[in-house]
Amino acid sequence: MTVKIDWENLGFSYMKLPYRYLAYYKNGKWEQGVLTEDATLHVSESSPALHYGQQAFEGLKAYRTKKGTIQLFRPDENAKRLQRTADRLLMPQVPTELFMDACKEVVKANQDYVPPYGTGATLYLRPLLIGIGDIIGVKPAEEYIFTVFAMPVGNYFKGGLQPTNFLIQDEFDRAAPNGTGAAKVGGNYAASLLPGKTAKSKGFSDVIYLDPATHTKIEEVGSANFFGITANGQFMTPKSPSILPSITKYSLLYLAEHRLGLTPVEGDVFVADLDQFVEAGACGTAAVISPIGGVQHGEAFHVFYSETEVGPVTKRLYDELTGIQFGDIEAPEGWIVPVELD
Ligand code: PLP
Ligand code: COI
Repeated sequence: MTVKIDWENLGFSYMKLPYRYLAYYKNGKWEQGVLTEDATLHVSESSPALHYGQQAFEGLKAYRTKKGTIQLFRPDENAKRLQRTADRLLMPQVPTELFMDACKEVVKANQDYVPPYGTGATLYLRPLLIGIGDIIGVKPAEEYIFTVFAMPVGNYFKGGLQPTNFLIQDEFDRAAPNGTGAAKVGGNYAASLLPGKTAKSKGFSDVIYLDPATHTKIEEVGSANFFGITANGQFMTPKSPSILPSITKYSLLYLAEHRLGLTPVEGDVFVADLDQFVEAGACGTAAVISPIGGVQHGEAFHVFYSETEVGPVTKRLYDELTGIQFGDIEAPEGWIVPVELD
């Protein structure tokens, strides 16, 4: 079957595909999951996910290679992160094997929607874990749904590899110092909606959050981690207990060192020291690598490399990362998981 989609101009929007995976957790264990054509979740009105935010999600992508095969990028890392998030919110862990099988099944069942090689587009997978059932007190659910659905996507930020600008707003925090910033839970994103709207209404792509305790250090972008390249060849990225540990960021720390000969540094990134960076970017599954042109902070507007052109190191990192993801460049061991199509 061929589907008619304008692969080059997809953006990042929901599309209802034929199949998604659905499994229930009941009586203390995961039941056998199924692929279903029903895109609506049927849950109790009192489900803890709806009232108290007992829910978690993930994001990963399937890539079509030049040969036409389909592969996932480090899905085991997403499985592990979902397990850490589940621990934080007292939800049952989704075993890695169940997570990986669900992702593979969804990709295989919707394989006509995995964008062709060369379009730059990918199939975005959204695993979701929610607490359900008839509970109204503030306590963990006894039953859960784990679902994985998918859709083809293009660029998350409008520019793609074109730099865009970001806004620092001191009056908003994304997460608390010892809160849930490192967990991939919906509440963090609910907290980012208003600051995100303010930033977008002023023409910025997204917000760059500062550390919630002192407001002196860069934490991350609302939907991606932050990195900067220094003139002396460091790939520097913030280390903080309240940012999401980005799988893309850890991949880039490795590639920066082992493939580009840069010095990887995870540490404090003081907003007063933005001058040390000759290039900067946002990185994540959806964002891939999105160059940051400039950052507005109060009255000050700081340009890194250029507002219109991607910097050379950012471009090399992008080529290396996406080359690996699409199967054109040899991956470090274990990073690529093929999806068998029969
Ligand atoms: N930070 C936030 C707040 C995110 O939503 C994401 C997206 O998943 C990331 C960082 C990047 O993480 P990853 O590279 O694992 O997709
Ligand atoms: C991702 O990159 O997978 C994300 O979850 C970011 C975003 C769409 C919220």
